[in-house]
This record gives sequence, structure tokens and C-alpha cells, in this order.
Amino acid sequence: MKKGIILAGGSGTRLDPLTRVVCKQLLPVYDKPMIYYPLSVLMLGDIREILIISTPQDLPKFSELLGNGSQLGINIEYAVQDEPRGLAEALIIGEDFLQEESCCLILGDNIFHGKLDFFREALKENSGATIFAKEVRDPERFGVVEFDSQGKVLSIEEKPDSPKSPYAIPGLYIFDNSAPARAKSLNPSKRGELEIADLIASYFTDGSLRAKTLSRGVTWLDTGTPDSLLEAANYIGTVQKQNAFQVSCIEEIAYERGFIDAIALAALAEVHPNREYANYLGLKARN
Ligand code: G1P
Repeated sequence: MKKGIILAGGSGTRLDPLTRVVCKQLLPVYDKPMIYYPLSVLMLGDIREILIISTPQDLPKFSELLGNGSQLGINIEYAVQDEPRGLAEALIIGEDFLQEESCCLILGDNIFHGKLDFFREALKENSGATIFAKEVRDPERFGVVEFDSQGKVLSIEEKPDSPKSPYAIPGLYIFDNSAPARAKSLNPSKRGELEIADLIASYFTDGSLRAKTLSRGVTWLDTGTPDSLLEAANYIGTVQKQNAFQVSCIEEIAYERGFIDAIALAALAEVHPNREYANYLGLKARN
């Protein structure tokens, strides 16, 4: 799979006033802007054509941060979501970018850490749509998937009052090329949005939805509330301090996945204003 979409829109009301002048996906999670984390996931899945969707006021900031991606050996395009009309609208906005190809959609506030083999495998195996399921203590805060002992999906519900299962659906979805057409045929929900749960449900109805459980080797972090944002920052900080590696260092990932060579990585290190970060990149380039 070549194409990925990062949806970095929304008004971030649960984090207000943090998000009054800086959008959520640009807030720091320990030492990096939040969007670095979902971008890393796509890059680790060898997805090199990426569309970032955000609000008209925030989109220029993402473009200032990441440019056209050529420094990372990838291609980043940008598109506007005028109004928060729902997550499923990303597939409609992205239709031209997708050019009838399948894609991976990741929400700009979702952080995954650990062994991402599950993701690479799912990208290879997908037909129809693939969602993931992670057992959590507070499923009512998320989309919830219920499945039987065979892994067959029984129901999908968005933020239910009484969840039928403890499995939340992380904001990482793989869709075949019918997703834009399906998104267009959805009716807005009571809150006036094209719901991602309804898009997933359309694959479910067809029998072409797969749900894969995330293993214990994968940590999924939510950043939607001040507490979960702080916990995510503490988690990343602890992992980095206890190990001699960075989490979601996009330059390192570009090099490790072969998108750029050692000379390009060394050049990025040379111009990096943060000496500690630059030294880290420099070391990688010399190894
Ligand atoms: C969205 C989706 C929800 C999903 C969650 C993951 O919710 O609607 O199904 O579980 O992302 O982060 P939001 O965080 O936008 O409220």
C-alpha cells in the first residue's frame, strides 16, 4: 500500500484553552509535535505518499513543519477540511489524492509504540477494510467493536453508553479503493457529522471488514484529554530516557526504511538547530 491520510482537524475542545491558538496535533508530546507520531506509523508501514488534512488556519503550520516531505524521501500533500464534518469526510477530501487506490487513514492524535509488524501485515493482507481492536478500561470513550471467539465482528458502536465489549477501535484504519464512494453515500449523524463508525459499518454490512486485536507488544496512547496527553508525554519521555533511542524520530525512520541515505541523514543532522537531536542523527548516519 502506497498511500496514507493523516486527519489533523477538529477543534480540540476537550483540551481548550491549550488548543485555542495551537491545534491539538501540533501540541508537544514530550519532545516532538504530536503529528510526528502518526506520521512515523505510516512511514514504518513504508507508506511514502501522504496527505495531511487540517483546518484552513492550521494547514499552513503543518506545511511549515514538514514541507513537501522530500527531506524525508516521502511526498506530503495538504488538503483543507473547512468545517468539522466528521472523520469519514477525510476519504471524500482525499479522493483526488487517492486516485482510486486503497489507503490507510490515521488520526493525527493517535500514538502507537512497539512492534508494528501487525500493521505491516495488515497493509499487505487487506481486502475491504481492516480495523484494530485494543482492550481498554474505558471503552465508552471510543469507537467500540464487539467480536466472537473466531474474531468475526458482531457490532460496531461509536462511544456507546453501555459498551458491548472492552475493545476500543484505535484511530488507524485500512480501506480499499471503495472508501471515497462509501463515504459519499453516508448520511450525517445526529451531530451532523459523517461518522467513521458508519463508514466501517458499511464494510461490516458487506462482510468485508476485518478486526485485528493489538497484541501486548503494542502500546496505543490516546491524547484527547489533559491527563491522557500528560501520560503520553511521560510514557515517551520514560521510554527514551531508559533506552538509547528516540521514539518517532522521523529522520531516523526515513533512513532506517531506506527512504534517504546516510549522506542525506548527515546533512539533516548538520542543519538541525537542536545539538542533542543533531548528534543523535549524526551517530545514526555514521553507523
Ligand atoms: C475518534 C473515533 C473513535 C476512535 C477514536 C480513536 O474519536 O470517532 O471511533 O475510537 O477516534 O482515537 P475522537 O477521538 O475523535 O472523539
